[in-house]
Amino acid sequence: MAKSRALLAALGGLAMGAAGVQAMTIPRSSSHTKILRQVEDVQDEYDYVIVGGGTAGLTVADRLTESGEYTVLVIERGLFGNDSSVNNVSGGSQAYQNSSLSFNFPSVPQVNLGNRVTGVVGGVMLGGSSGVNGMQVHRPQKADIDRWGSYFGPCSEWNWDNLLPYFRKSWRLHPPTPEMVEQFNIKYDTSYWGGEDDGGIHASFPTFHWPFMRAQMDAFADIEGIEFPVDSGAGDPGAFWYPASFEPTQVRRSFAMSEYWAGKGNARDNYETILGHRVVRVLFEDEEAVGVEYVDSNSRDTSQARTVRARKEVIIAAGTIYTPQVLQASGIGPRPVLERAGIDVLVDLPGVGANFQDHPLGAQALFYFTNWNFSPNPSDLQSNATFRALAEAEFAANRTGPLMIASGNAAAFLPFPVVAPERFEAIAAAYEAQDPAAYLHEGADETVVAGYQAQKSRLADALRSMDAANYNLFIRGSQMEGSVVYLHPLSRGTIEINATDPYFGTPVVDYRALSNPADIDIQVEFIRFTRRYFTETRLAQYGPIEFSPGAQVTSDEALRQAVRSQVSPTTFHPVGTAAMMPRELGGVVDENLLVYGVEKLSVIDASIQPELPGAYTQQPVYAVAEKAADLIKERA
Ligand SMILES: Cc1cc2nc3c(=O)[nH]c(=O)nc-3n(C[C@H](O)[C@H](O)[C@H](O)COP(=O)(O)OP(=O)(O)OC[C@H]3O[C@@H](n4cnc5c(N)ncnc54)[C@H](O)[C@@H]3O)c2cc1C
Ligand SMILES: *[C@@H]1O[C@H](CO)[C@@H](O)[C@H](O)[C@H]1NC(C)=O
Ligand SMILES: *[C@@H]1O[C@H](CO)[C@@H](O)[C@H](O)[C@H]1NC(C)=O
Ligand SMILES: *[C@@H]1O[C@H](CO)[C@@H](O)[C@H](O)[C@H]1NC(C)=O
Ligand SMILES: *[C@@H]1O[C@H](CO)[C@@H](O)[C@H](O)[C@H]1NC(C)=O
Ligand SMILES: *[C@@H]1O[C@H](CO)[C@@H](O)[C@H](O)[C@H]1NC(C)=O
Ligand SMILES: *[C@@H]1O[C@H](CO)[C@@H](O)[C@H](O)[C@H]1NC(C)=O
Repeated sequence: MAKSRALLAALGGLAMGAAGVQAMTIPRSSSHTKILRQVEDVQDEYDYVIVGGGTAGLTVADRLTESGEYTVLVIERGLFGNDSSVNNVSGGSQAYQNSSLSFNFPSVPQVNLGNRVTGVVGGVMLGGSSGVNGMQVHRPQKADIDRWGSYFGPCSEWNWDNLLPYFRKSWRLHPPTPEMVEQFNIKYDTSYWGGEDDGGIHASFPTFHWPFMRAQMDAFADIEGIEFPVDSGAGDPGAFWYPASFEPTQVRRSFAMSEYWAGKGNARDNYETILGHRVVRVLFEDEEAVGVEYVDSNSRDTSQARTVRARKEVIIAAGTIYTPQVLQASGIGPRPVLERAGIDVLVDLPGVGANFQDHPLGAQALFYFTNWNFSPNPSDLQSNATFRALAEAEFAANRTGPLMIASGNAAAFLPFPVVAPERFEAIAAAYEAQDPAAYLHEGADETVVAGYQAQKSRLADALRSMDAANYNLFIRGSQMEGSVVYLHPLSRGTIEINATDPYFGTPVVDYRALSNPADIDIQVEFIRFTRRYFTETRLAQYGPIEFSPGAQVTSDEALRQAVRSQVSPTTFHPVGTAAMMPRELGGVVDENLLVYGVEKLSVIDASIQPELPGAYTQQPVYAVAEKAADLIKERA
């Protein structure tokens, strides 16, 4: 709920449109010599040109430059944002509301949400969305990763066992203290992580948490079928504690910029970064990508564009929202979309911008506990000036206490049969029987329909499986709780270039929220289950009172209406718009992450995830990028 309120605040308070990239601030310290001070310093040619210095882009750039053998240029549209709004972990993210560090533009009005418009949000800075995210670190289920590979048949390398080493490589775990383990019964197993002295992003546990969280976690044991996995990274659903992406000594955000880009502490001669410039399109000679055209981020004039050549490969890492724009503007995408915009078709690839997914938020039952006096508790930070002052003093002196908590560290990720034991089979069967084209966008290409059909049979199985998580409830230790995220939505949206302003207009983003009616039926069960958790477990002793949608809302139809009015289509976890799937299934990249129909062009960011994972997206983005670097080096 806090997140959706914050989202509304962001919508009200920020100017719409792409982030205004302000005057460039270039850091002075010598460790930043790899930022080129002026665009004239960009060389004519590099081995690799990376489009977007975000989460995935900086991970791959680091790995490709390690050996010294290859030259790399990163072109990032944003600036070097490393201010206190980025580094401050308290309460999760503030930076995503800063228009110098993020984009926030309106989606297409959502017809199934009473024509509500949602803010489309992401990071625009060196580090991309890893610089503005909520720092929650949890890993998908094994079944999610195995499903990705399954579209290519049983021999695909894309499975849990193969990706686990990359998950490990991208993180260094700082285990919880023995006191926290004891107080909160935290389970962890270091074998799923990189060690404290390894590279990668820091994953740390706060040394303080709100005492009510113990009761909230224990209450899950009162519901049949809920497991407590050995570690948040073990790939199993259940209720668990998980770390946050912060460096534990200074307690500052740990992200792609701080670890993959700056982490080694020295500049590499073969690695250059240009900020404040955006790639307009990829350049081709015949079907071979040979470079990119780019402009100053403040410019809207392609006649001002500069070009830079890539000897080996152009690597696109502009994120799920902007990667389809770059591809479509380069002539790779659905023919009708390109023709409307007057772009010459190089490859008719209907999957570019299709298959768009994000985690919906908000089909929840919000409760307030009346017989409850946990102390301290999160609201003391707002309502008790003494507590607040002590917390600030403690954080300033010792980097400990409540201000080291980011967005939270515990949650349930539950299989649908646990959530709806009586109804899961009927809902899964009805979904499975649907005509695959029935709820896709109008004019969806037959390959996109075939891809959805392939997803549909697997996702129907996932609805019946105890190995997949579908329902996610946050735990925050508050008197008021009940925020739910839906992990495997079945509706599919679209992202298309603006037909009258293809290069500089914001992309046209349609979540198509709740376009598949099964998403409504599933989220109705989420509301029912959330009630069960609050009223039929040991939490009942704290006097839970439902205030939204309200205990009187019980019929299927009334609950469906509650879902339509509550849901926001995004938790800022967009994926799928350049899906790694076979071309005949609407895929955009193959198993090597190379774009179909052309040569020397790859995509490595969140857009390649064919379906959402049953967890938030930063872990899979880093792991996929680590693997992508190996794939790219293998073919170098
Ligand atoms: C507000 C918010 C909260 C989140 N919270 C969590 C969380 O708590 N836990 C979690 O696991 N995940 C979270 N996520 C999701 C996670 O951070 C993202 O999935 C991940 O960072 C995406 O990485 P990426 O490499 O695909 O894209 P990004 O990291 O967004 O990188 C894309 C980069 O490309 C640049 N770019 C775009 N277009 C161009 C162009 N034409 N030319 C040059 N550069 C360009 C952008 O400026 C950006 O820097 C959150 C995301 C957001 C936005
Ligand atoms: C927003 O980000 C810019 C660039 O890093 C920074 O100068 C500014 O102080 C930030 N604003 C807030 C309110 O944090
Ligand atoms: C980013 O800011 C933090 C906190 O001020 C600082 O410790 C760190 O060195 C900065 N990183 C870079 C690469 O400048
Ligand atoms: C960090 O953010 C929190 C929550 O918004 C705020 O209360 C605190 O003052 C900030 N701390 C710093 C050092 O900016
Ligand atoms: C406010 O916080 C202080 C410090 O933790 C505590 O001693 C006091 O009891 C709190 N006051 C109330 C009204 O909760
Ligand atoms: C910092 O930690 C020390 C050692 O635990 C403690 O004595 C001191 O009171 C703490 N400072 C603040 C301001 O909380
Ligand atoms: C497309 O861009 C034009 C010009 O910038 C703008 O007026 C229009 O609203 C945009 N269309 C959409 C659907 O965003």
